Amino acid sequence: MTFASKYGPWALVAGASDGVGAAFALGLAERGVNVVLLARRQGVLNRVAAEIESRTSAQTRTVAIDLARPDAAAAVAHATGDVEIGCLVYCAGADPDFKPFLANPIEAAEAMVQRNCMVPMQLCHHFAPAMVERGRGGIVIFGSGAGLAGGPNMVAYGASKAFDMVFAEALWAELHDQGVDVLGLILGKTDTPALRQLEHSRGQLGSPDDVPSGATAVDDVIAEAFENLAHGPTWMVGADLRAATQMMGSLTRNQLVRLMAQASAAAMGADHPE
Ligand SMILES: NC(=O)c1ccc[n+]([C@@H]2O[C@H](COP(=O)([O-])OP(=O)(O)OC[C@H]3O[C@@H](n4cnc5c(N)ncnc54)[C@H](OP(=O)(O)O)[C@@H]3O)[C@@H](O)[C@H]2O)c1
Repeated sequence: MTFASKYGPWALVAGASDGVGAAFALGLAERGVNVVLLARRQGVLNRVAAEIESRTSAQTRTVAIDLARPDAAAAVAHATGDVEIGCLVYCAGADPDFKPFLANPIEAAEAMVQRNCMVPMQLCHHFAPAMVERGRGGIVIFGSGAGLAGGPNMVAYGASKAFDMVFAEALWAELHDQGVDVLGLILGKTDTPALRQLEHSRGQLGSPDDVPSGATAVDDVIAEAFENLAHGPTWMVGADLRAATQMMGSLTRNQLVRLMAQASAAAMGADHPE
């Protein structure tokens, strides 16, 4: 079976306007799969679509939806009702804030859970039955090292990413022997526009044109993702994250959380919190 006959004819990439999502969409198009590109910024989506169409023979469609909206999943279902989605890639989203839980109104955490947990779960429930019926398809859900243990300044974010990882693992357990590949793609620090913006706003990066120190390149993430699409349930991206995960296995949960607190304090340029 070719890549396109396994994962096509269309893929939906949620979070496709820049960084890893846009690169993932291009990678799918290069492999012969048409792509629905979804994010909030219509103008940026148009540019990504034009680039994909100029570099590949795949078709594209752009859909501007805020995935934090309560009706987002229904809006996505409506926007894709006339195409056969053989692959769902849920890349949105990171946390542009990195603030203490109590520094924001509860609505910020609720929106995070809506975008990172509710909507991917609803979209899997919407798209997976047809994949199972066809006996083929793929689902990729982005996780984060922040989901491996709780840490300050990413309370709801880290918890949402833990949900995503366990959700993908469990869905893999139910679907992989029915022909549907499910992969929880866990990223460490990655050189995306969102990360550059965050580090620049915190004064850690002189210019948004600089590469954040220690960040994995988007192309390397995408190469590992395509290599491991069928090797779920979980893939830790990058040698650094794989080494860190191995080291974490030797710690107790309490030690791990203290370590996350230290790392967070270092990232904020603050003194150790204890
Ligand atoms: N970068 C890292 O260091 C890092 C580390 C670990 C894990 N990750 C994971 O990798 C994924 C991508 O992260 P990223 O750094 O590229 O940042 P991001 O903020 O998730 O941006 C990725 C895409 O998501 C879209 N998006 C964000 N919020 C959205 C919303 N409410 N509705 C619709 N689309 C939305 C953005 O486009 P619009 O702004 O146009 O909506 C963009 O196209 C995330 O799942 C993140 O958790 C990243």
